[in-house]
Amino acid sequence: MNKEKVICPCKNITRGDIVKSMKKGETSYKSIKKATGAGSKCGKCEKEIRKLIKKIKADAD
Ligand code: FES
Repeated sequence: MNKEKVICPCKNITRGDIVKSMKKGETSYKSIKKATGAGSKCGKCEKEIRKLIKKIKADAD
């Protein structure tokens, strides 16, 4: 996974930022949105972010 890839251009949030946020204990789209700002502007990235969260969770098991 390319962690440098920007997943939310509005807020300039990368995949790595989402991973970091999850390591800090955020587990839902809502809490990650709150913690990082990802998805809080146009919302177009929501689907991508949700997919990424699922993937990270699956990899962690
Ligand atoms: S691309 Fe994420 S809020 Fe616009």
